[in-house]
Amino acid sequence: MKSWNYRVKICVVGCGAIGSRIAKSITKDLKKDCRISGLYDIDRKKVDKLAKSINVEKKYLNSDLDKLIKNSDCVVEAINGPNTRDIVKRAIKHKKSILVMSVGKILEEEKLFNLARKNKCYILLPSGAIAGIDAIKAASLAKIKKINLITRKPPAGLTGNPYFAQKGINLNRLKKETVVFNGNVREAVKHFPQNINVAATIALAAQSLNKLNIKIVTSPKYKSNSHEVEVLGDFGTIRALTDNVPCPDNPKTSYLAVLSGIQTLKQYCTGILIGT
Ligand SMILES: NC(=O)c1ccc[n+]([C@@H]2O[C@H](COP(=O)([O-])OP(=O)(O)OC[C@H]3O[C@@H](n4cnc5c(N)ncnc54)[C@H](O)[C@@H]3O)[C@@H](O)[C@H]2O)c1
Repeated sequence: MKSWNYRVKICVVGCGAIGSRIAKSITKDLKKDCRISGLYDIDRKKVDKLAKSINVEKKYLNSDLDKLIKNSDCVVEAINGPNTRDIVKRAIKHKKSILVMSVGKILEEEKLFNLARKNKCYILLPSGAIAGIDAIKAASLAKIKKINLITRKPPAGLTGNPYFAQKGINLNRLKKETVVFNGNVREAVKHFPQNINVAATIALAAQSLNKLNIKIVTSPKYKSNSHEVEVLGDFGTIRALTDNVPCPDNPKTSYLAVLSGIQTLKQYCTGILIGT
């Protein structure tokens, strides 16, 4: 990883729960190694509120996105809309590295990965809200036979998704533990674009989209998001359980995902990589 002789310039795209907390960390815990060179969101009010709370100069706010990217070293993508691919492409075209939180949106974007390789920039994919990605990356260098992921979420963490209406599932009426999805990673990211980034991260870490089976389970008794992953391969077996506390700013997002994004950025800026 590149070593920098100045504070790395970071443009944060998406100033919601994750983007705001990453931006705050850049100006606090990571301030020795990096600084904000852009804040961007389709909701201008969010940019202004965040900029005010962390003292970011006006010239770095919501101007032309390409201009902000050009004047940065690295972009952080933390949006909840369909434009992730476009933002990643713009960053790479300008030869800038990008940390992507919405991993499910770039699951099969081989062309983007190749362009990043050609333009010598990094696509940084944090582990997010799940433990075990470090070991899965190593295990993928030998044969992986099977991966099972069971994601448990309270109904409130799944609401607003048209998938449930299509399947005739009323989340408010469920009385007991219910499997609401059982399928592969392509179907999972298609139906749950906001909820199952960890499945995409596992598939990319394992370098296999076909060996991963995902179950999404909900129950009125669940209070938090948890992910249980089991991997069987030549290396042996991994079993990892992550019981997450929700992020106070967005109950659909786990706090660990935010911390994982910040840690990945720190590793990029300091050049010290720990794990795998
Ligand atoms: N990798 C993981 O483990 C993991 C975990 C949790 C969330 N996520 C993903 O991270 C992303 C952000 O999560 P969050 O909790 O911060 O969401 P959020 O809803 O709190 O914030 C998203 C922000 O993006 C903005 N936005 C939407 N479209 C935009 C666009 N085209 N350009 C600029 N801004 C735009 C919204 O206005 C909002 O402020 C989501 O896609 C979520 O699925 C990943």
